[in-house]
Amino acid sequence: MIPQEIIRRKRDGAALGEAEIAFFIAGLTNGAVTEGQAAALAMAIFFRGMTRTECASLTRAMTGSGRVLDWRRADLPGPVLDKHSTGGVGDNVSLILAPAVAACGGFVPMISGRGLGHTGGTLDKLESIQGYDAAPDEARFTAVVKSVGCAIIGQTGALAPADGRLYAIRDVTATVESIPLITASILSKKLAAGLQGLVMDVKTGSGAFMAALKDSRALAASLAEVAAAAGLPTVSLITDMNEPLASAAGNAVETLHAIDHLTGAKREPRVQAVVVALGAEMLLLGGLARDLDEGRARIEAALDSGAAAERFAQMVSALGGPADLIERPRHYLPQAPVTLAATPLRAGHVRAIDARAVGLAVVALGGGRTRPQDRIDPAVGLTNLAGLGAPVGPGQPLALVHARSEDAAREAAVRILAAYELGEPGVAGLVVVERVGA
Ligand code: URA
Repeated sequence: MIPQEIIRRKRDGAALGEAEIAFFIAGLTNGAVTEGQAAALAMAIFFRGMTRTECASLTRAMTGSGRVLDWRRADLPGPVLDKHSTGGVGDNVSLILAPAVAACGGFVPMISGRGLGHTGGTLDKLESIQGYDAAPDEARFTAVVKSVGCAIIGQTGALAPADGRLYAIRDVTATVESIPLITASILSKKLAAGLQGLVMDVKTGSGAFMAALKDSRALAASLAEVAAAAGLPTVSLITDMNEPLASAAGNAVETLHAIDHLTGAKREPRVQAVVVALGAEMLLLGGLARDLDEGRARIEAALDSGAAAERFAQMVSALGGPADLIERPRHYLPQAPVTLAATPLRAGHVRAIDARAVGLAVVALGGGRTRPQDRIDPAVGLTNLAGLGAPVGPGQPLALVHARSEDAAREAAVRILAAYELGEPGVAGLVVVERVGA
């Protein structure tokens, strides 16, 4: 087979066969296919799309490009479950959800990503914790999942390496926003992690990659169908990203926010709703709840009893972080030297929020990357973000900026003022918009 003939067929709208896709992905993994050829095929797929059968073949080929974890050997006394979000702003759900599900008897080997574009990454948030090792070897990762019930770590080169290569190429060739490519990228990593059940959190709204509900629905359906074809039971929830999910956006600030949620020091209803909805689905998929009502009750109980907080503390300490992080989080999480309130000149209510612009304000503060090699500043970010409908004005800021310098703080405040539209109170929609799946 010849790579350029495969590209040509896709360019002209043909459906590729399993063997052609397998050949191309094998070449991408071993270097026989060039970066230019991979970019050309990605662009052809972007414009021509893929059938579900092609997308399933692509997912299978990318999954098989590296190691596939097999948890049967670990002899775990419960189901292996995970959730994945398509990316949002102020979305620190993973830090709360993984330990809550572990406290209910699930095992969650969560391979998380770094921030991408305007969205934050779970891995970056966890790395704001002094000493936390987000890249343990497989033996340590397995041991922590087995003993604690959850471990959140970063992507290793061993799992789905074809996705690693293709993703880096897509990121710089404007080919990220393709439903079949996103589907294969996410599911190949999840299938390689050896899961028994997956819950997808597909974001919709101004802070999501798929801003329009119809595109979020199409992505959710694609994920559910291709996962089912690959034998991975999957449910997708479409959740709202027309405003940051939590009132904090940034790395250390979101970690602190998650710890406050876990300990009960402060719980915000929107974050709680997403954690409980996703957790209930995970428990149902794993056979740990008879129905969603029981699943919700179990997740709520795990949070209220402190069992989820305890699992989080055990995970952090087993992966090298401080043993008393949840008792003294401010002692261990870095804090930015400058704080500044972003205050509107006139009083009003929050009518609309450009959540993507809020995420980009965090990136500009240094809390995200503009180039893959950039180091991020874990301390910077935003807290006290006003939600849709909130009254704001001279005495009631839109947000508190945490910055490295006065100039950076002022620039972020200007960005926040531009991201918020004031007027008649905007009505926050349902946080869990829709469920797609069996
Ligand atoms: N997350 C992924 O892992 N892959 C994509 O393509 C998009 C979001």
